[in-house]
Amino acid sequence: MNLSEIPLGTTINDRYELTKKLGDGAGGSVYKAHDRHLDAIVAVKILDPTHDTLGMPWQEARLLQQLRSRYLLEVLNADIVINSDLRFIVTSLMNGGDLENHCRPHGLLPSEVAQRVQQIASGLDRIHRAGMLHRDVKPGNAMLNNDQTVLGDLGFCHLLDSDGITPPNGSFCTVAPEALGANGKCSKATDVYSLAATTFYLLSGEYPVDHQISRQEQNDKIMAGSLRELRSIAPHISRAVGSVVRKSLSRDPAKRHSSVTEFGNALAQAVQGSRDWERVTHADHLHCLIGANHGAKKAVRVCAIASNDGKIRVSAKMHASGRQISGYPDRHITESRLAIELQRLTSSL
Ligand SMILES: Nc1ncnc2c1ncn2[C@@H]1O[C@H](COP(=O)(O)OP(=O)(O)OP(=O)(O)O)[C@@H](O)[C@H]1O
Ligand SMILES: [Mg+2]
Repeated sequence: MNLSEIPLGTTINDRYELTKKLGDGAGGSVYKAHDRHLDAIVAVKILDPTHDTLGMPWQEARLLQQLRSRYLLEVLNADIVINSDLRFIVTSLMNGGDLENHCRPHGLLPSEVAQRVQQIASGLDRIHRAGMLHRDVKPGNAMLNNDQTVLGDLGFCHLLDSDGITPPNGSFCTVAPEALGANGKCSKATDVYSLAATTFYLLSGEYPVDHQISRQEQNDKIMAGSLRELRSIAPHISRAVGSVVRKSLSRDPAKRHSSVTEFGNALAQAVQGSRDWERVTHADHLHCLIGANHGAKKAVRVCAIASNDGKIRVSAKMHASGRQISGYPDRHITESRLAIELQRLTSSL
């Protein structure tokens, strides 16, 4: 049987009926499936036999089994497709899919991000305490089921050597600079950086380096530390949250938070105390934000709209009534001032 040819409706080993494709990646293809024995819906990852597993094809499944945690994907079975050399891993189905999709197009509320990042940090800490690195922390490798977030795809986990180092690995969207180049290597700080880059995406729907540009350009920007400014892309993110993320995206690993737990806790603390803002899409508007109820303060909305004179009109209104907020008259600004104006409004309202 060929990996790319498995049609939906196929039943593997007279047990797992594949009903929907959930994802594809370097490690294999993942399907939603009906487990006939347990009469349960599960996820089946059929491993790509050409993928380099360093002679340890069961490593991903075994690690999930050994490290079991509420914050790591739960493994249910691992087997070989009868009459083939295809191996597969069965895991609990995470109904909400992965965080890369869940955060489209503009990211999540900062309070939700902080909760989910703390959960991913707990799963990652479990791996670190076992003396390993994950080496591919990214939104596509974290999955959710309602409020629960788990880290998955442990296919690139690697044991640390006596100096706390592993060979390099990572995906361009979240990889740290020290994992790139001819002498690339990873340490715990590399996973901290990837968690911070994941957080950047969860807050904004964008990666620290534009994912659309060529791989060589991404490589050069990551190595040079020339990352995008989170608060320019997502002006509603508070200064405190921006500083936490920036610290762990430092080019120098020693300047980052010292552990993933420390990063998660700093993020949770930075989020507390300020109003939650969410970017929303209104037809024909440029950039709109809704600020949630906050203590005695009622929900508000800020809309930036292109006007005929080439300028942008920015207005702040009470969300329920649509009434203008006193002390906040409409402002007409140039496009280059938009992020600053949105930062000003969201931090003061
Ligand atoms: N248990 C699950 N429940 C729901 N969706 C899942 C589950 N496992 C995997 N997926 C989906 O399948 C995708 C690919 O899974 P995974 O990351 O394990 O494979 P991969 O081939 O190693 O991917 P990549 O190389 O892109 O990192 C995930 O991003 C997610 O969308
Ligand atoms: Mg993956």
